[in-house]
Amino acid sequence: MNIKLISAKKPNKDDLLIYLIDKNTNIAKLDLPDNFVTYIKKQLKENAKSVDLFLNAPISILFIGDEEVDFQLRESIRKMGAAMIDKLNSQRVKSVYITDLTKTDRAAYFFAEGMALSNYQFEKYKKEQEVNSLQQIRIGDANITQGKLDRMKNVIDSVFEARTLVNEPLSYLTATQFSKEIKRLGKASGFSVEVYEKKKIESLKMGGLLAVNIGSTEPPTFSILEWKPKNAVNKKPIVLVGKGVVYDTGGLSLKPTANSMDFMKCDMAGAAAVVGAVNAATLNKLPLHIIGLVPATDNRPGGNAYAPGDVIKMYDGSTVEVMNTDAEGRMLLADALAFAKQYKPELVIDLATLTGASVRAVGDQASSLMGTASEKTKASLKASGFSTHERLIEFPLWKEYGDMLRSDIADLKNLGGPTAGQITAAKFLEHFTDFNWMHIDIAGPAWLHSKRGYESKGGTGTGVRLLYHFLKKISEA
Ligand code: BES
Ligand code: ZN
Ligand code: ZN
Repeated sequence: MNIKLISAKKPNKDDLLIYLIDKNTNIAKLDLPDNFVTYIKKQLKENAKSVDLFLNAPISILFIGDEEVDFQLRESIRKMGAAMIDKLNSQRVKSVYITDLTKTDRAAYFFAEGMALSNYQFEKYKKEQEVNSLQQIRIGDANITQGKLDRMKNVIDSVFEARTLVNEPLSYLTATQFSKEIKRLGKASGFSVEVYEKKKIESLKMGGLLAVNIGSTEPPTFSILEWKPKNAVNKKPIVLVGKGVVYDTGGLSLKPTANSMDFMKCDMAGAAAVVGAVNAATLNKLPLHIIGLVPATDNRPGGNAYAPGDVIKMYDGSTVEVMNTDAEGRMLLADALAFAKQYKPELVIDLATLTGASVRAVGDQASSLMGTASEKTKASLKASGFSTHERLIEFPLWKEYGDMLRSDIADLKNLGGPTAGQITAAKFLEHFTDFNWMHIDIAGPAWLHSKRGYESKGGTGTGVRLLYHFLKKISEA
């Protein structure tokens, strides 16, 4: 799983050779015997996407398509990389050498990215653990420097950390354990971590987080991550907030088990993405001051669990009438957003597996975006969505949607109506902000029920590459 990405002028003798070609490639340049060239040309004429040969060593020739939209072409190259690695691991190949003979911009880079991203494994709980064979991807392309590959690797490692955090079950990853994992990463990578324990959370009166936590025997945590390099280009920090519900039973508004509660260990995927993004920004030393906030607890129906009808006083002093205890994510996110005000942030982005409505609206192909940040900022985030293929679809925050949250006895309800659930959830969060803000509902793509391209079944780590790409652009502007 821990693959090396190496920039190399020449292949090693044991490398499996991969050639990337497109319709402009002169096959004769491959320096292969005539009968091989004739064979390849014939295969391509018959629309083959790849040709496997053996000449002293195995050789794979992959045909890069020529779709019009370049982000789609990049994605299909990543997916070719993913398909290739499955094949290589099943053949127990250890090392490959990629030669790019296409006119496509950075084809070898995206191919290697797809390969590396799909080499993820989560075997921890198996008695017999399988280990992927592939250990090295060597790339012969003068434009793809070792520095670029190292930075890519740091981002991919951060995606893997996020996937593993999501894949860890509640039996291991309690809120306390989650905060320990964040500390471990902070120490290893170089960002600072402060963890507020239950007492501190109580003294701060984080009523939303505490309400969700009442039904649990495990204490909540509130982790604060910070990457503040001396050369930061921003005076005011960018704050990332992640929903850290380590398990969502729904609480007293209990979820059914099948296809619902059975994968709710994924409900801290927003927090995992924030942790992964801060980790990647730190490892690659982005010149940006970034703060990450992770409110964490499980949502359970035990003991004095908060109940529908309860009125909760939140961290910012607002009162919330709880209509459904399964709308818990917004309760703790609201406290974290209000907490972010003290930083006078330049921008706040929260990520959350917040609503089934987002899944119904956009499926697992995209996340829902809503926010009060400028059109320019939202456009930049959406562009990063296309570049990384972690796509975003924007929904409006029209004030009429906010009317659906009116309560007779409190400042607002935690539930809108039966429709537009991802929007009313965002309207709820908006109430607790006074800064430029974007909310990303990742409920669809955070968890996959079957493998897709370079994304593993289970936790995908969605959000890490998106946020990193976006933050990098800000740091370069
Ligand atoms: N964690 C869920 C949302 C979710 C659904 C995440 C599917 C991943 C996949 C969230 O806490 C929830 O239960 N939301 C409710 C809100 C409703 C009660 C207003 C929902 O969407 O059904
Ligand atoms: Zn819920
Ligand atoms: Zn939830």
